[in-house]
Amino acid sequence: MHAALKESFEQAGQGHVFRFWDRLIEEERDALCAQAAQIDLSEVDRLVKELVFGDGAHGVDLSDLAPAPYIPLSGNGGKADDWAEATQLGEDALRAGRVAAFVVAGGQGTRLGFNGPKGTYPVTPVRKHSLFQVFAEKIKAASTRYGKPIPWFIMTSNLNYEATVRFFEQHAFFGLDEDTVHFFQQGLMPAVDYDGKILLETPGRIAMTPDGHGGSLRALVRSGAVAKMEEAGIDVISYFQVDNPLVKCIDPAFIGFHLKAESEMSSKMLPKRHSKEKLGHFCTQRGKTVIVEYSDMPDELTEATDEQGNLRYIAGSIAIHTLSRDFIKRMGGNDVSASLPFHRADKKIQTVTDEGHPIKPESPNGVKFEMFVFDALPFAQQPVILETAREDDFSPVKNAEGADSPQTCREDQLREYTRWLKAAGVEIDTDGAGLPAASFEISPLFADSERTFVDAWSKLANPPAITEGLVIE
Ligand code: UD1
Repeated sequence: MHAALKESFEQAGQGHVFRFWDRLIEEERDALCAQAAQIDLSEVDRLVKELVFGDGAHGVDLSDLAPAPYIPLSGNGGKADDWAEATQLGEDALRAGRVAAFVVAGGQGTRLGFNGPKGTYPVTPVRKHSLFQVFAEKIKAASTRYGKPIPWFIMTSNLNYEATVRFFEQHAFFGLDEDTVHFFQQGLMPAVDYDGKILLETPGRIAMTPDGHGGSLRALVRSGAVAKMEEAGIDVISYFQVDNPLVKCIDPAFIGFHLKAESEMSSKMLPKRHSKEKLGHFCTQRGKTVIVEYSDMPDELTEATDEQGNLRYIAGSIAIHTLSRDFIKRMGGNDVSASLPFHRADKKIQTVTDEGHPIKPESPNGVKFEMFVFDALPFAQQPVILETAREDDFSPVKNAEGADSPQTCREDQLREYTRWLKAAGVEIDTDGAGLPAASFEISPLFADSERTFVDAWSKLANPPAITEGLVIE
C-alpha cells in the first residue's frame, strides 16, 4: 500500500516527499501517507506547468475588460416594482423550504491576528457575541419568520474544524436545532517550491493548506452536502463569508432576483468607496461576467473615470452570492470543462533542510494554489449582479486596526441600530459620524432589518430608553 503510493510519487518526480522515510516512526509514516494519498498528482503537475513555469505565472488575463452592468437599488434607479416582486418570489422560496445558508469559514484569519477560528471572534458592541452567533440568530429569525428550518452549511478546514464544532457545542448551537447545522472540511493543496517540487513542512509532513474558498464547490459535493440538499428539496444556497456580521444571511429580494432570472449564480455589489478599496471588481470579458481581484487590477483601470468623473470600475464585490444547487453540483464535480482555475500565491512556507532541520524563510520560497469561488461566475447561466446598501450588508472584520477592523465594524453595527431606532420614531442624538453617545445592541432575534425592527418596536408596551449597555432582545 505504502509502496504503491511512494512509487506513484516517484513516477511524478515528487519522490523526495518520502526522503526521510527511514527515520520516521510507524505513526509518522501512516500520517505522511494519509496526506500523500489526498494529493492529485496529475493536478499538481498541471498546476506547476501552468502557474509556476508557464503563462499563468504572469498574472490574470486583463484583455477586453469592461465594467459589468448591475441591477441598482430601488432608491438608486432600480424599479420599486421589480424589487417588490423579487422580495415576494424570495419569500415564497423560503416558505417552501428551498433555501439553505452557507458560510465559508476555512480561512486562517492571519491579518486579524486572532487566535482561533475567525467565526468565534467576539464582534457585537455590548454582549461581544461571536460572528457565528450573529449568523445563527439571523438564520433562526428567518426560519421562524418563514415557518421552515433553514439548514446551515459551514465550511471549515483542517486548521479549524474541531475548534469550530466544539464552539457550537459549547454554545448549544446558539438555539438552532443541531440537526440543521452541517459542518464539513474543505480540501487541501500541497505547496511547491520554485522548481515545482512539493514542500515538506517537517520530515514527516507535507506542507498542505486549504484550497481557497473556491474549494467550497468541490467540498460541498464531496462531503455529501449537495446530496443532503437534494434530499431536503433545497435548490437555493445563500453564500457569505465569515468576516461580515452585517450580512443579510438570508435576503428574500436577492433570492428573488436570482430565481426570476433563472440564474445559476448571482452576486451582490456595492459602489467602491475609493479606487483603492480592497474589493474585487465586477467586469465583463468577451460576453462573460468575471470578478477581477483588487490585487490583479492595475491602477490605470481602478482609477479610470467616466464622463461624470465616477470610477469606471465602481462595482465592488462583497463576496455574497446566491448559488443554485445544480450549478454547485456541476462546478464541484469531476467535469474538467467546468472546474475552477487555481491562482498562484507566493508565500513564505515553512520547510526543512536536506538534513531535516526546520527553516522559516524570510522571503517567499514557494507557491500555494487556491481557488476563488467568484471564478465560477463566467460558467454560470444568467448571472445577476445586484446592488445592495453597504450600511445594511457589509462591514467586515479583516484587519486588527484601521479599515475593516473590529472598531469600524462595531461602529457600523451601532449606526445600523441607530438608523432602525430613528426609523421607528425614536429620538437619538448622534455625532457627525452618525454614532450615538451610548453603546447598545439589538439582537437579531428581536429584529434583523429596519422593517422588522419598526414592527417589533411598535408592539412594545414599554419601550426602553436608549442607555449605555442596553440590549434590545
Ligand atoms: C475577499 C475577496 C474579495 C472581496 C472581499 C470582500 C478573495 C480572494 N477576495 O477578500 O474579492 O472583495 O473578500 O470582503 O476572496 N476562506 C475559506 N477557505 C480558504 C480561504 C478563505 O473558507 O481556503 C474564507 C475565509 O474564512 C473568509 C473568506 O473565505 O470567510 C474570505 O477570505 P479572505 O482570504 O479573507 O479574502 P479577502 O482577501 O478578505
